[in-house]
Amino acid sequence: MDITIVGAGRIGGNIARRLGRAGHSLMLTFARDTAAQQALAEEVGAGVAAPAAAVAGAEAVVIAVPWSVLPDALAQLGSLAGRIVIDTTNQFGSGPLPAVGQTAAAFNAGRMPGARYTKSFNTLTSAFQARTAHRDPRVVQWVCGDDQEAKAVVARLIRDAGYEPVDLGGTAGCAVMEAPRRDGAVYGEEYRLPEARAVVEAVRAGVAIPPTPRYP
Ligand SMILES: NC(=O)c1ccc[n+]([C@@H]2O[C@H](COP(=O)([O-])OP(=O)(O)OC[C@H]3O[C@@H](n4cnc5c(N)ncnc54)[C@H](OP(=O)(O)O)[C@@H]3O)[C@@H](O)[C@H]2O)c1
Repeated sequence: MDITIVGAGRIGGNIARRLGRAGHSLMLTFARDTAAQQALAEEVGAGVAAPAAAVAGAEAVVIAVPWSVLPDALAQLGSLAGRIVIDTTNQFGSGPLPAVGQTAAAFNAGRMPGARYTKSFNTLTSAFQARTAHRDPRVVQWVCGDDQEAKAVVARLIRDAGYEPVDLGGTAGCAVMEAPRRDGAVYGEEYRLPEARAVVEAVRAGVAIPPTPRYP
């Protein structure tokens, strides 16, 4: 699949390495340090292009820039209409924020009109994600979004990257996978499939999720 990584730093770089090894066709974009971007591109067998050109041929676009940089990144990318977007960002730092009660996912989906928006890869540290890819039992990567087909594609990419995809539902109801780390949320916590299924049931039922699992 043709996938563009916008901001191939800690989170985006790990995704690039994983999806490159899985045989996907990658393009990297949006870097100040173009030498480092080029070095990663050579490592993973990716191309490099300016933002608008990089998304023009992409079927999926991974957005992995700091929250404060998102407005500039989105302006430089141009329209994402029709593209499957995987938003990895968390609302830390400066920049426009969701309204009270609105999820960051719903807010960001609104900033990408026409995009087939999903959110994933955002709940675990980059070091943990890099360390645990392909580990058995698989680590869960949560995904939310309002486009079922897009989520199915992203679930395959999550599997290709070496994690277990678990669908938490739509963008309006995915607050438990969003920052900050807190009781009653999955953000910042490792999950494996059985415990993740129980979380999905609780979220669907509108009740508190079970206590955070502790793994040996
Ligand atoms: N780090 C984590 O553990 C973690 C975990 C989950 C989610 N996230 C989320 O993932 C997103 C990316 O985080 P990250 O830790 O991967 O960040 P990062 O390592 O700093 O990577 C940011 C990427 O954006 C590029 N970029 C382009 N313009 C930039 C600018 N003006 N300022 C900063 N970076 C710029 C950077 O390249 P240049 O430096 O070459 O510009 C780099 O490729 C964030 O929204 C974060 O909340 C992070």
